[in-house]
Amino acid sequence: YKVTWDLESAEKGGYEHFMLKEMYEQPKAVRDTLMPRLDDENRILLDELSLTPEQLNHLKKIIIIACGTAWHAGLVGKAAIEKFVRIPVEVEIASEFRYRDPFVDERTLVIAVSQSGETADTLAALREAKMKGAHVMTVTNVVGSRISREAQDVFYTWAGPEIAVASTKAYITQVMALYLIGLKMAELRAQMPQEEITKIVQELKELPSKIQQILDHQEKIKELANKQIHQHHAFYIGRGLDDYTAREGSLKLKEISYVHSEAIAAGELKHGTIALLEKGTLVVAMATQEPLYDKMVSNMKEVKARGAYVIAVTKASLEKEMQQSADVVFSVPDTLDILSPVLSVVPLQLFSYYMAVARGADVDKPKNLAKSVTVE
Ligand code: G6P
Repeated sequence: YKVTWDLESAEKGGYEHFMLKEMYEQPKAVRDTLMPRLDDENRILLDELSLTPEQLNHLKKIIIIACGTAWHAGLVGKAAIEKFVRIPVEVEIASEFRYRDPFVDERTLVIAVSQSGETADTLAALREAKMKGAHVMTVTNVVGSRISREAQDVFYTWAGPEIAVASTKAYITQVMALYLIGLKMAELRAQMPQEEITKIVQELKELPSKIQQILDHQEKIKELANKQIHQHHAFYIGRGLDDYTAREGSLKLKEISYVHSEAIAAGELKHGTIALLEKGTLVVAMATQEPLYDKMVSNMKEVKARGAYVIAVTKASLEKEMQQSADVVFSVPDTLDILSPVLSVVPLQLFSYYMAVARGADVDKPKNLAKSVTVE
């Protein structure tokens, strides 16, 4: 399998905005990140990870450092790596990590996640970790970037150039990268039977066509966004992995459409945020996780009882049931719960995009934001 992309991909190629084009490139981006790292038997090849099994067994913890959207990818990565490898993982905002004299030593693996590989805070955090003796790896999209040059191990997300300030395909490939790193480590530390790893890899291979299915059925999302342009506030709720996706969806909405938006772990609602709900307030409820489904439904009842307008994102097999608890339901194809963030974020990206377009915002270049932030 060979990855190909050329200069042309840096142009809009018929799409109204780079962001739209980049969302459409997600199936390919996921494939390009995944396929070069699999052999014919679906075993993961990961030359990028230079730690030996002995060194891996010796590790005490992993710290993922990142900013913005990459930090959200890190949150999903934490859940996946802890599940696969059974090792504690912390996720920290790079600008916070540096100033708290973190517990880092030679038994710590630090993974810096950065699309551009140039974010000043992430670079500084990586240097701090390296100085303290950690093994430093990066997940980045830009070959030769500063972070890639300073890290000991480099995992390139082959997403291709991302031009829109709001990150979409890079985010999805960062999540994929962290799954692969987690699975490879689980293999090397003999933490999971090979058959189980292969089963997950097979599911990973299904993701590109499932993303495509969501993209092919986006008319409903567009219509809904057109009806919600009057909103001044939005609240995104979810539990577990859905909480992380909710945060990413909320960030997407606020950064390009300028609608004030907040994401909150659904169980925390009652400790404050619920006070802000009134008739018609927009609540986006993420409910893709089977074991947490009932709890989410009761949170949705709480917000509906206060008059909220509830958009639910769930998986296809739960769609019918969900219709009783929400005003509108989007479903994404079923997959393993742990992999669902790769799918459930797509309707949220599309919703933000169409909200921004309908509100007349400059989608690709939102005010006050930069694609890569090289000041601390
Ligand atoms: C900027 C961009 C965000 C991005 C963040 C981190 O704020 O606008 O989209 O998530 O930087 O960037 P990085 O390149 O380190 O992933």
